[in-house]
Amino acid sequence: MKNLHRTIHRWYQSYGRRTLPWRNTDEPYYIYLSEVMLQQTQVKTVLERYYFPFIERFPTLKALGEAELGEVLKAWEGLGYYTRAKNLHKSATLVSELPTDIDALIQLPGIGKNTAHAIAAFAFRQPVPIMEANVKRILCRLYRLENPTQKELWEYAYGLLDQDNAFDYNQAMMDIGALVCLPKNPACDRCPLERICEGKDDPLRYPAKQKRSVRLREEHIVIYRYHDRIFLHQRSGKFLHGLWGFESTKVPPCTAAYLGEVSHTYTHFKLTCKVYLYDEETPKQKHYFTLDEISELAISKVDEKILVLLKRSKRPCWVSF
Ligand code: ADE
Repeated sequence: MKNLHRTIHRWYQSYGRRTLPWRNTDEPYYIYLSEVMLQQTQVKTVLERYYFPFIERFPTLKALGEAELGEVLKAWEGLGYYTRAKNLHKSATLVSELPTDIDALIQLPGIGKNTAHAIAAFAFRQPVPIMEANVKRILCRLYRLENPTQKELWEYAYGLLDQDNAFDYNQAMMDIGALVCLPKNPACDRCPLERICEGKDDPLRYPAKQKRSVRLREEHIVIYRYHDRIFLHQRSGKFLHGLWGFESTKVPPCTAAYLGEVSHTYTHFKLTCKVYLYDEETPKQKHYFTLDEISELAISKVDEKILVLLKRSKRPCWVSF
């Protein structure tokens, strides 16, 4: 095992993404933030557009906890999976410092076992493995696991861990997964784990592909406009909670103008919206906003696409277009 850990370490020194900013800080809040952002978002997007502006806007956990949720959602706008931002904000209101203990970390909203382990390994240098998607794929291939349980995966992960340098080891495992042990095109000849990999003759077999059919959801969206103002409501249900958005309806008003269609794919379904514009003679809704005001609100990806459709459509006669 010592030799293998040395090989992984050397590989990391030569090819690892060692300059990533969250790998060059001891600040637990920054590491926590990066782990939450990276849960469902690619490194490039987090790095180029979200990590630094978020830290600049909310430099400490305390500052984050004192901020309004709306401001946090605005800084998260476009990253998707907004529950992450709400949980982050909630955690910041609960603690002024992150606990170092994994069980205590898991008590905080939005921190599951993997994120707790990542924070423990990266912020507090504890000798524990992590289990993000890249690491899972590597373990499945190394040990020829087609449909492993979580328990099995964690057992293998603990068995392989370099306890003397869990920080580099875990970062290296993620990088091997992201750069070498690719889902469709693994470059086994460049892999530092090739020597011990049981699945290298047929890597695409591990793990078995999940059969998931995409559910389709259709909505009619009505943009209610009163002069140069548009009605938006703040969502209160589970889906996109807290974000501002357009109203959906079963049947659009018969005098509404059809503007077109937008769609967006979420994790569990594809949402297609038929969009209508309805000019009101008297304001009948609650909150109307100008386009400038809307740019200050946190809205979802699909509502952003609806706004673009509205701005591009011939029919609306915005003075400011
Ligand atoms: N994904 C989750 N954590 C990560 C990290 N520390 N570096 C790169 N990608 C990650």
